[in-house]
Amino acid sequence: MTKIALIGAGNIGGELAAAIARRELAEHVVLFDIPQKESFAKGKALDLEQNGAIEGYDTKVTGTSKWEDCAGSDVLIVTAGIPRKPGQDRKDIIGTNLPIIRNVADNAKLHCPNAFVIVISNPLDAMVYEFMKRTSWPREKIVGMAGVLDSARFQLFLAREANVSVKDVRAMVLGGHGDQMVPVASACTINGVPASQLVADDKFNAIVDRTRKGGGEIVGLMGTSAYYAPALSAVAMAEAYLHDQKRLLASAAYLSGEYGYSGFFMGVPTIIGRGGVEKILEIALTDAEKKMLADSAVAVKEIVDIVNAG
Ligand code: APR
Repeated sequence: MTKIALIGAGNIGGELAAAIARRELAEHVVLFDIPQKESFAKGKALDLEQNGAIEGYDTKVTGTSKWEDCAGSDVLIVTAGIPRKPGQDRKDIIGTNLPIIRNVADNAKLHCPNAFVIVISNPLDAMVYEFMKRTSWPREKIVGMAGVLDSARFQLFLAREANVSVKDVRAMVLGGHGDQMVPVASACTINGVPASQLVADDKFNAIVDRTRKGGGEIVGLMGTSAYYAPALSAVAMAEAYLHDQKRLLASAAYLSGEYGYSGFFMGVPTIIGRGGVEKILEIALTDAEKKMLADSAVAVKEIVDIVNAG
């Protein structure tokens, strides 16, 4: 029986549970939150189970604030923490989210030591780093979700500009999950056709800029951060792991020399299968992209330093 524990039953947690149930990706989904939110989590779980009668799925959904209920999970997806508010940078929520990720990491180690861990909480690169540092989780079994989401934003903007279906756009965003992220122009195609043939340079540059600020754009509009696409991005990663799909997805992975960086997490192309992060691919980047990645690494290291000092 496949079991997925969702740590945080808020906006993303709820969307995750709904998407997993619909796909019957797991027989059992646990929606975990703090004791003050236990009844909320139970209510969401019940609503989703009732939805199964309409949509036709049998997934069991449990709402809880007891870590024991998460025991034996195959996948753990962490959204615990506060989201950004308008005007805030991802860095601004580190003080609140750092003690939360520490609490989650300690309990995960105790109750779900064999899980494949996907961290979504922000600031992403710092949260996933702290989780691993605290638990010594095997590097292939822990990733941060950012690249799939940032790539989806990049793909949508390119599709709209080129007036083609988003289904045909392939694009990848690497680096940290901040405004220095690296949309890889050289890896961008529309069903194999280089995007540069269909999107003019100035438009392309504007899209790169909008992608980098894509999270903030939604926070500005909604007053809280995005949840539909973030949830589905993590579901794609969980599915790749559970079904051994060997998908090439951009993930925040722990670097040990890849691209010349070591000792922290950053978005890189990974192969995700039943072994977790089975491979980190070192793709050819242009000099300009290498420089962007270096700048992004500096920004990631800055927040990792804050975590290490805190
Ligand atoms: N353990 C479990 N859950 C917790 C804990 C904890 N220690 N602390 C807080 N939470 C819960 C909150 O009670 C809340 O229900 O995490 C949930 C977060 O839900 P939302 O506030 O709706 O936030 P959401 O939009 O889901 O985003 C969560 O993901 O993308 C990031 O920036 C985003 O950091 C934010 C996180």
